[in-house]
Amino acid sequence: MNRREFALGLLAGMAASSASNTQASKAQTVSTTEDGLRPDLTRYSTQELKVGGQTIRVRAYEGLPTVAKPVEPDYQALNLYIPEAYFQGGRIAGFTARTAPIFLPNGVGGYMPAKPGSLVNRMPGPPGEAPAPSASAMALARGFVVAAPGARGRTLQASDGRWTGKAPAAIVDLKAAVRWLRHNADRLPGNVERIVANGTSAGGALSALLGASGNLPDYEADLRALGAAPGRDDVFAVSAFCPITNLAHADEAYEWQFEGLREYRNIAISMLDFRAQRTEMIGQLSDAQLTLSGEMREAFAAYVNGLGLKTPDGGPLTLEPNGQGRLREHIAALLQASAQQAVDGGRDLSDSAWLRVQGGRVQSVDFSAYARTVGRMKAQPAFDGFSLETGENQLFGDARVDKRHFTAYSLRHSTVSGAARADAGTVKSMDAMQQLLDARAKVSPHWRIRHGSLDRDTSLAVPTLLAAAARQRGAAVDLALPWARPHSGDYELDSLFAWAEAAVRQPA
Ligand code: DHB
Repeated sequence: MNRREFALGLLAGMAASSASNTQASKAQTVSTTEDGLRPDLTRYSTQELKVGGQTIRVRAYEGLPTVAKPVEPDYQALNLYIPEAYFQGGRIAGFTARTAPIFLPNGVGGYMPAKPGSLVNRMPGPPGEAPAPSASAMALARGFVVAAPGARGRTLQASDGRWTGKAPAAIVDLKAAVRWLRHNADRLPGNVERIVANGTSAGGALSALLGASGNLPDYEADLRALGAAPGRDDVFAVSAFCPITNLAHADEAYEWQFEGLREYRNIAISMLDFRAQRTEMIGQLSDAQLTLSGEMREAFAAYVNGLGLKTPDGGPLTLEPNGQGRLREHIAALLQASAQQAVDGGRDLSDSAWLRVQGGRVQSVDFSAYARTVGRMKAQPAFDGFSLETGENQLFGDARVDKRHFTAYSLRHSTVSGAARADAGTVKSMDAMQQLLDARAKVSPHWRIRHGSLDRDTSLAVPTLLAAAARQRGAAVDLALPWARPHSGDYELDSLFAWAEAAVRQPA
């Protein structure tokens, strides 16, 4: 029996006998005083949750500090939910205390601060119906341990006026949580070599970033300053819904997709969080903006060609300066597959003029017509605003400056006198795409990326290039553009967990 099995045996024994419980908690109190990152695990509450017809009892450890010297304690913390069965020597779906995978959802939206997650689904249900079980509740029902960390975000400010959640704070906090799990692995159920990160939008970008940047030294100084546990921070699998990533090139990707479209239907900046109510604002790009849009499209083609990425069947993912080419055809094929699945499921797509459907088969996709139909949501540029007006500008501030540029292009066109630009290292540390291209990173071997066919928050090229880059690093990547889904996440949970279960049963 190795040390870890012994400790888990002890935990199971604790639950069975109150006498040994007292003994064990004494031993743990001693270790708590020695190491604040190994808290007293005899303190928990019991929660019961109903998922489908099943009632699951879990031990809830909430608000566990993930770093020894937090600057924002409410956010640099973890909620941990563990099925009671694992303390009793039990099994769920074939998993045991030793083998149970760990589902690690982050609740970040809009690069805003996020507190550690609970088991409650915060998305409203259909009118008159209760909300569906949350992804975390589903995970527990399927035998996962749930570790839901908080993360700092772009609007946090200390009482002395310093900004505390600017890039790369959020990913540093998530990495600290992963290290905390490994630091406590010997005395908690759950297999720290089978962590499945999950998130949506900005949170999807962060789950992808966890999978892209394992153990990179870029974050070490920040982690050390916060008193994070030493050790590895790589994760086994990534689930990313509509990741708002590749911020260094997302503006170009947006112009490439929506080339020539003048009208945009935007949302108020304060509403960037995907969970919040959205207020639509309709605007028109000026002639000058349309000219710049053409420049950006050409820059995007040059960027894509420089990446040297491939399609799943080995074809080159390239673009011509006019925006045509293999990447475009690849994305059109992904949309075609999505439409075919909808048709196979009985949907009538005859009102989608950008598709040609004949005899129940989707024959072709007109990508330009698709882009016109879904329409552009953001002005130009979409992410690094010339007047520092976007959420991303605020993400890339620093301790003293609220908002900065993060691309050379927008700095050049800035309308804000004295505007600064975040340094390249900070932009890289926030970008899953750039980290995937860093050969030193330990990359997750399993990725699942979902980006709805109606999502206009970023170009479809962003998840597509991310998938190709992960594949190039040897990962198994499952990418799809689910039919008629807008910018959203945590849907099709049966499919999500079927993928996660198949992944975690593979060797690393
Ligand atoms: C989110 C949405 C955006 O359009 C964006 O630019 C950043 C984040 C979000 O929903 O998290």
